[in-house]
Amino acid sequence: MNILSGIQPTGRFHWGNYFGAIQQYVTLQDNTQAFYFIADYHALTTVRDPKVLADNVRNAAMDLLALGLDPAKAALFRQSDVPEVAELCWLLLTVTPQSLLEKCHAYKDKVAKGLPADAGLFTYPALMAADILIYDSDVVPVGVDQVQHVEVTRDMALRFNGYYGETVLRLPTHKVLDSTAKVPGTDREKMSKSYGNTIDIFESDKSLRKKIMSIKTDSLGVDDPKNPNDCAIYTLYQLFASPEQQAALAQRYRAGGMGYGEAKQALLDAALAYFGPARQKRAELEANPGIVDDVLKQGATRARAKARETLRRVRAACGLLASPIV
Ligand code: ADP
Ligand code: TRP
Repeated sequence: MNILSGIQPTGRFHWGNYFGAIQQYVTLQDNTQAFYFIADYHALTTVRDPKVLADNVRNAAMDLLALGLDPAKAALFRQSDVPEVAELCWLLLTVTPQSLLEKCHAYKDKVAKGLPADAGLFTYPALMAADILIYDSDVVPVGVDQVQHVEVTRDMALRFNGYYGETVLRLPTHKVLDSTAKVPGTDREKMSKSYGNTIDIFESDKSLRKKIMSIKTDSLGVDDPKNPNDCAIYTLYQLFASPEQQAALAQRYRAGGMGYGEAKQALLDAALAYFGPARQKRAELEANPGIVDDVLKQGATRARAKARETLRRVRAACGLLASPIV
């Protein structure tokens, strides 16, 4: 079974990205053929500073490796190292009704937020479809917001196969990433880069403390009994602590006599302990940049071999035969 997913390098990864996606990518790399890529072509629809984009891509690769992606199990690569996807994107666009793209929520939402309505943003789902179809992916783990894009991918593949043959493109299915881990941010809303309420996985200790101390709470005093289930600090603590530790902290909330400052300190300690090994690994990777280069290169070689094979099949199916002189 082929598993594929991509993550956009639009900034540093935060706790929401980890519990909502990355942790599950790591679990899924066992017992399957997994392809994970850093979606830098897609990020170009929003990141227009070349240095920022390049830094984001590198940081994303280091973060993913430090968090447990294992290049011996999964291919980790840059989307743009496989330019064949851009060609498949074009071929798919030739069979895609404009109305199918117009229905996509992600595009409508981004335009509503004020992003310019570039054709790249509009045709974003076709590039995503090409990413998925070029690796003959069976299962695509995505957050709920991306499910529609996988459905659109199936529509495009069905239309393409309708013209050129039932077996040309393999139909993928989505697997919704467990969003019970809908991680709250420092303002108690969903943690998201676009809300500016994130706590990043690899923040410095100092900045981590500052962010945790800034988490919004109600205004109950130290002596008041508190409800852990109505508190972002406790929700976050549950991500890191054992069931026993969770029960102990919940008990202290209910008993009164504990201020939120103490709960925040417990969260800070738990988060540092949880991500300790990853932080250590990340520091090692940062000190040895060659390791990351090698991983990305090897990942791209594996991914590109598969992409070329699919593209040969697709080209042949639609009559784009290589000319004998090329
Ligand atoms: P952001 O909202 O910060 O821009 P992305 O949309 O790039 O994050 O999300 C990348 C992945 O992380 C997606 O699979 C998404 O479902 C997951 N994710 C992001 N934020 C959260 C969150 N607060 N809780 C759970 N999962 C999240
Ligand atoms: N659009 C996805 C997101 O923003 C990233 C992505 C690009 C992707 N291509 C993909 C995800 C292919 C899964 C499969 O989260």
